[in-house]
Amino acid sequence: MHALYVIWQCLLEPGDEVIVPDPMWTEAVENIRLAEARPVPVILRHEDGYVYHPEAIEAKITPKTRAIFVNSPHNPTGAVLPKETLLGILALAEKHGLHIVTDEAYEDIVYDAKHHSLAALAEQQGYDEKFLDRIVSIFSFSKSYAMSGLRVGYIVTGDDRVRERISKLLRCTINGVNSIAQWAAIEALRADPAHLEGMLKEYRIRRQLMLEALSGIPGLDPFLPEGAFYVWCRIDPVLYQRLGVKDADDLSSRLAAEGIGSAPGDSFGLHCEDAIRFAYSCGTAMVREGAKVLSAALRT
Ligand SMILES: Cc1ncc(COP(=O)(O)O)c(C=O)c1O
Repeated sequence: MHALYVIWQCLLEPGDEVIVPDPMWTEAVENIRLAEARPVPVILRHEDGYVYHPEAIEAKITPKTRAIFVNSPHNPTGAVLPKETLLGILALAEKHGLHIVTDEAYEDIVYDAKHHSLAALAEQQGYDEKFLDRIVSIFSFSKSYAMSGLRVGYIVTGDDRVRERISKLLRCTINGVNSIAQWAAIEALRADPAHLEGMLKEYRIRRQLMLEALSGIPGLDPFLPEGAFYVWCRIDPVLYQRLGVKDADDLSSRLAAEGIGSAPGDSFGLHCEDAIRFAYSCGTAMVREGAKVLSAALRT
């Protein structure tokens, strides 16, 4: 999170524009606004597998565009961008002289798809250093090592000027990640990477439980996540009528009263109010129990 704050403060001037996917995890976009810049949404569509298409991005480029923000695996939909799409985004950024900020917090939480790191892909494609320096990659220990409480993440950039500004911003805000969390992060890196397999096995079980709970409900269209740990469902208003709720906010409150946490679509952008996101990052036993309650609540 702090990496996102810092990088936008480094790169943006008031009035700049950054192209972002919509829906998008709110905080990524809020950090652009905090830098007094304007997030410009590209609407992702359910029918299209929530792919962030280069052509749709290009249509939003203006003289004020400074960067393209990419997040794959994607929060909230769980979509993972295919290699060809990422190559298209690289070509676009090079053509228009733009930065790419790529948030790869869920790089290790992938099920059926393969995650390609944008900067690595750019290097493989033989792009020159000047362009590579315009790609800023953000990673986190929160998901790969289930360490979100410890607040450790990092930025990778080859641009010396950006690095210098990052150090200054860090010095004047958090003045470095606390040393206890840094030691924990070192231990996480030293640990047997096999832990990931076990973690993914559990996430697969939870994903299946959630999809079973959410499938076959008239008016609810769950998207099969290829990465991350969320199920994003598109809602047809017939569901509101049947359940006697006003909208997705109201549905989310109704579910909260039954003990189920969720996030309504409008917290992720301006064009996704008829949607709801469920997370399965809590323990498998809790997901199993919650899935039963959720299924019953949505089928009444
Ligand atoms: C897309 C995305 N990026 C970054 C983060 C930030 O994670 P953290 O601040 O825990 O590293 C999150 C957390 O949910 C996220 O969903």
